[in-house]
Amino acid sequence: MATDRIIAPTASPVEEFKNWALRPQSIEEYIGQPELIERLLIAIQAVKTRQDAKDDTETREHLEHILLHGPPGLGKTTLAHVIGSELGTKVHTTSGPALARGTDLVAVLTRLQPGDVLFIDEIHRLPVAVEEFVYPAMEDFKIDVCLDTGLNARTVQIKCAPFTLIGATTRAGLLSSPMRSRFGITHHLRYYEEQDLVHILRRSASLLAMGACEPDALGQIASRSRGTPRIANRLLRRVRDFASVRADGVVSERIVDDALSLEGVDGLGLDEIDRSYLRTIHSVYHGGPVGLEAVAATLNEDAGTLEDVVEPYLLQIGFLARTRRGRMITRRACEHMGLAPIDPTKEEKPATGSATGLL
Ligand code: ADE
Repeated sequence: MATDRIIAPTASPVEEFKNWALRPQSIEEYIGQPELIERLLIAIQAVKTRQDAKDDTETREHLEHILLHGPPGLGKTTLAHVIGSELGTKVHTTSGPALARGTDLVAVLTRLQPGDVLFIDEIHRLPVAVEEFVYPAMEDFKIDVCLDTGLNARTVQIKCAPFTLIGATTRAGLLSSPMRSRFGITHHLRYYEEQDLVHILRRSASLLAMGACEPDALGQIASRSRGTPRIANRLLRRVRDFASVRADGVVSERIVDDALSLEGVDGLGLDEIDRSYLRTIHSVYHGGPVGLEAVAATLNEDAGTLEDVVEPYLLQIGFLARTRRGRMITRRACEHMGLAPIDPTKEEKPATGSATGLL
């Protein structure tokens, strides 16, 4: 199944639990995303300074609302907890689908203490009716709740403590513009550099009390992790088991290669599903262009699943081209897979504007 892969960027609740111990506890321990970390450090420092300058200790300064968007597995939840710990406040976690009705939101908001963080994962899945309640809560820390119906209908205003909403989404394009405009800080999380992943792996290996890791061995794991810390930590656990059974716990480049080859993960982090997707376009459809539905039918997979979980990484590393006429395998993919080169006349020319600016 394309959704149940060792290189899947999403995690099951059991894996989330295992990863808990590997998470950075403070902003100093957080590796990668340097621009975001700098923006956060400034915003947090400014809030603390304003708070310290206040005479009354009754009211509390709060950090602006933050929207984090980007692919899964890059640590949006981790960041929310790190921000909470930096502010010295509690983090309340929920998700768009869990807030099905306005009353669910009221229950969450009334539990907040001044300055707390409310983390809403998958915020793009918040029902429209609930979104309407979120706006006044974000702006004025109050919500108007309608009680009863018909002649007895009345509205009561419920106040909540000033808080910071951290919204996370993999699909920023699905957020309504009124929602997007209510965040003071918006940041796109990028895939991690390989050296940052090595750093994360070294930290995780030490937390997992793993034995000796040869320096280049962690680089081998990082290069197969698709720029994603969650995948890196998952592969590290597989390598740890393999090394403990086959090599007295010593993690060498050779052991990483053997362990991950056994899992079907190649040097660039492609698995058998990626390879059979590319092989199908190459051999059944002569390199493309071919429609997604046709590839999905040949592979007996759901087209939406291919589009959401297989294609993004292949597009990102330049192994797949999405042209107006359909999907095409690229020359780089053929070289990596040891496949015959595709007919160069088929390669899509980069789109150039005509004199009128129309194509
Ligand atoms: N573990 C997972 N992601 C991490 C990160 N960004 N920094 C440190 N440890 C991590």
